[in-house]
Amino acid sequence: MNHEMKCRNIRAAMSLHGIAGLLLCLALLAAPAYGQSLAGRWAATGSPLANGEVQKVILDLKQDGDKLSGTMQSLGFINEVTGKVAGAHFELWGVGWNDPKPFVIGDLVNGELHASQWGDRIVAHKATAADEIPRPAYIEPPALHKVKFNGLATTPPMGWNSWNLFAEKVDDKTVRTMADAMVSSGMRDAGYIYVNIDDTWEGLRDAQGNLETNHKFPDMKALADYVHSKGLKLGIYSSPGPRTCASYPASYGHEAQDAKMWASWGIDYLKYDWCSAGAIYKNDALQPVYQKMGDALAATGRPIIYSLCEYGMGSVEKWGADVSGNLWRTTGDIRDTWDSMMSNIEKQVSTASYAGPGHWNDPDMLEIGNGHMTDDEYRTHMSLWALTAAPLLAGNDIRSMSPVTKSILMNSEVIAIDQDRLGKQASPVKNGDLETWIKPLADGGAAVGVVNLGPAAAQATVHTSDLHLAHPIAKARDLWSHQEVQLIKDSYTATIPSHGTLLLRVWAQ
Ligand code: GLA
Repeated sequence: MNHEMKCRNIRAAMSLHGIAGLLLCLALLAAPAYGQSLAGRWAATGSPLANGEVQKVILDLKQDGDKLSGTMQSLGFINEVTGKVAGAHFELWGVGWNDPKPFVIGDLVNGELHASQWGDRIVAHKATAADEIPRPAYIEPPALHKVKFNGLATTPPMGWNSWNLFAEKVDDKTVRTMADAMVSSGMRDAGYIYVNIDDTWEGLRDAQGNLETNHKFPDMKALADYVHSKGLKLGIYSSPGPRTCASYPASYGHEAQDAKMWASWGIDYLKYDWCSAGAIYKNDALQPVYQKMGDALAATGRPIIYSLCEYGMGSVEKWGADVSGNLWRTTGDIRDTWDSMMSNIEKQVSTASYAGPGHWNDPDMLEIGNGHMTDDEYRTHMSLWALTAAPLLAGNDIRSMSPVTKSILMNSEVIAIDQDRLGKQASPVKNGDLETWIKPLADGGAAVGVVNLGPAAAQATVHTSDLHLAHPIAKARDLWSHQEVQLIKDSYTATIPSHGTLLLRVWAQ
């Protein structure tokens, strides 16, 4: 398990996504106040989820001097935590985090832990026998077998996903207004077809085991009809574990039932997020567990794109297609920063040979337009996702895009590189601060992107011989300035701003 995965689980168990967050806060209680020890079992209750459930968080802590260790569990999750104590004050973070930034910070006050967990206030008390978290029984995953390609995603899926901007605040109205904006902004006509609802739509299971929606989504079938009436498609989200990453009920033991229900609603795309499955299965079960839902989707007879989300564990690029995956996340969650975006794309490098029509590596959704990168950085984000044939799932507010954001997301010449039917994923060659990515195209030409990783503008020269084209060059265009460029003496030189990208398309004769 990598650091981001652990980080994710901790986060998922916390109030960022609902009740679970509060539970984590309990962990903070562990600080020894004036000689008191934080050791022991603590229990807290998180804020309610949108489906009305109130989650418990149990923190089991050991204290050795000023050091804390132990576990934190909530519905579906068990995470190792570590921390430190100074007097009555304590801090906790996830084991193995690269950046040991505490997520629970608090004090031991009168035998209770009063803490802030990701900014939420929580109070934990010493647990009693009643403070137990039920664990579902183990279900053996089915044996692996050969599957038939579902024929979908012959080019990388394009659309919008609610998570990056709205997280748990997504609701029916947001999705409807976003679908309207996909049409009025031109996004749909630029190719962004899927409108994907991420985590936190889930309600409770009824007596027959059907998973209901929560109050934010009063009628999912009606919502699907609305989205379809706009010429768009609707996506949904679940987990193979008992709980999603935001701690909502998920598909463990209900795979076929859930798939049937989604098909009856008119769902066209499923993102299936490992999350709490990690508390039930080891990584050697990744393939059969994912194949189980792939089979369930196929059995519905409805074309549903299958998006695996397990952060690249177990070299998913090598087997994702064998379990019916049309795309698979290769990284942890993207954030709206240059470092996060570049770190995600660089993790794509070893996966390049596994991308192709019907099955794509997914370095996570786009952050373009969310405001924390420069326009040059967002152009680089779009260029690199296109060069690596990555799914293009916008993660911003389509209803209020600036002209620059529109010009980046809807640059049809860049989209054409991403959607090229040959489906090749570019790999980089680094030379100092300049990184060159070359993507062969179906028409015998190529796209070439040169990224300036450095802090200052830099001059870059593209040599046409590096493109290894079978025929001489007919013409070349700069896809951001939308101008033809002259290849003088077989090369082209341009100045690239810091964190910007020169993106050329070259046609062969
Ligand atoms: C995980 C995924 C994210 C998002 C959240 C929802 O962190 O990687 O993309 O789906 O869960 O809880």
